[in-house]
Amino acid sequence: MKTLFDLREKQDVEIYKDIQNLYNEPLKIVRLEDESITPCIGCWSCWLRTPGKCVMKDKMSEVYPDYVNSDTVILIMSTAQGFINHNAKAFFDRTIPHYHPYIELVNGECHHVARYESYPDMVFHYDNENLTNKEEQVIEDYLYRTAYHFKSKAYRIVKEGNLQLRKLESRNANNQAVHFSSTNPMDKLVIYNGSPRKIGSNSKLILKKTEEVLSDRIEIRDLKEEGKWEEWAKTFKNEEHVMFFMPLYVHAMPSHVMRFIEKLQPSKGSISFFVQSGFPESSQSHYLEAYFEQLSLRLERTYLGTAIKGGVESLQMRPTKSQDKMIEPMVKAIVNLVCEGNFSTTDIQQLARPVRFGGGRKILFKLLSKKFINIFWDKKLKANEAFEKRFDRPY
Ligand SMILES: Cc1cc2nc3c(=O)[nH]c(=O)nc-3n(C[C@H](O)[C@H](O)[C@H](O)COP(=O)(O)O)c2cc1C
Repeated sequence: MKTLFDLREKQDVEIYKDIQNLYNEPLKIVRLEDESITPCIGCWSCWLRTPGKCVMKDKMSEVYPDYVNSDTVILIMSTAQGFINHNAKAFFDRTIPHYHPYIELVNGECHHVARYESYPDMVFHYDNENLTNKEEQVIEDYLYRTAYHFKSKAYRIVKEGNLQLRKLESRNANNQAVHFSSTNPMDKLVIYNGSPRKIGSNSKLILKKTEEVLSDRIEIRDLKEEGKWEEWAKTFKNEEHVMFFMPLYVHAMPSHVMRFIEKLQPSKGSISFFVQSGFPESSQSHYLEAYFEQLSLRLERTYLGTAIKGGVESLQMRPTKSQDKMIEPMVKAIVNLVCEGNFSTTDIQQLARPVRFGGGRKILFKLLSKKFINIFWDKKLKANEAFEKRFDRPY
């Protein structure tokens, strides 16, 4: 079976016929218009309570069998603000039930272990009309990366006269193409917290500690408060210094963060980013860093840089002292930014270690993952009486 998921904002049907011409069997068309995909809230129920099943009751949950049972999925997406739009991003975030929480090391990077025997080829199509060449490349790199981690082959449908199918080959992110700048010490930094988690958010904890040090030199705004978005998008134009702080979700931002970013207009002032992720290696966040560099150019703001910290999912399993030790360098990076007007390059490089696993670290991680990390997931599964169902393949 081959399924075409239409995730676009405006779903004109003409393109279906052209895409159908690329295949010699009928495509199943699934239309997932805006609002039909509830954003992932990072509750981990699909891993720890109902293995393989998302708790959300929406159209996306209804079409999971179509995804898993296809040999090819074709995703047609809209772009916005130089990236795939929030609806396409929500689709990717909601795909994690098809993988295990268990971790394996592949080429020095963490991957989630496959739940199913095989996964469909992923074929992407997006309109490049409002994109710069660099933005188009950033999106393609991101999509390649996502398919790679989803254990799928990646293809892109491009228009070269007619529509053509092009295989996407392995590549690294084109991050650090824009240099970190500096500005004056800040009277006030507005920080948008992009964690979708309602309880147990790591971002919230880190930002609380930052507030204890910087008090009213920072103002934290929680992007879960959607009712305030219109006002915040308006005031963005006049805010001198703004930071987006978020967890990494499928190699990019959580979908609601993208939805807010879509509302922003070019304006004067600085912009900076802080990405914290579950896996220890910072290379996971390079594709998002590459996008944020382009976003800063699009918004015409001074790019102060992107700080990356991996291994944060383990934060709240640690004793208080060890939590403080992990949080301290993250707070220090933000304090430096506010008080000096720039990130300290040495601190940011230190924070981003390891970039990937190499040599001895690889062996150590393999031992640790068997002994501690995967056992941690097992403990949680047992506590939820879901251990026996951990290898379920519901679709
Ligand atoms: C849907 C989803 C996707 C994620 N994708 C990644 C990823 O690609 N790489 C990674 O290292 N961590 C990933 N994570 C882990 C989060 O970044 C990590 O748990 C983070 O610390 C959560 O922060 P928060 O509690 O502030 O929301 C993902 C988590 C979720 C729920």
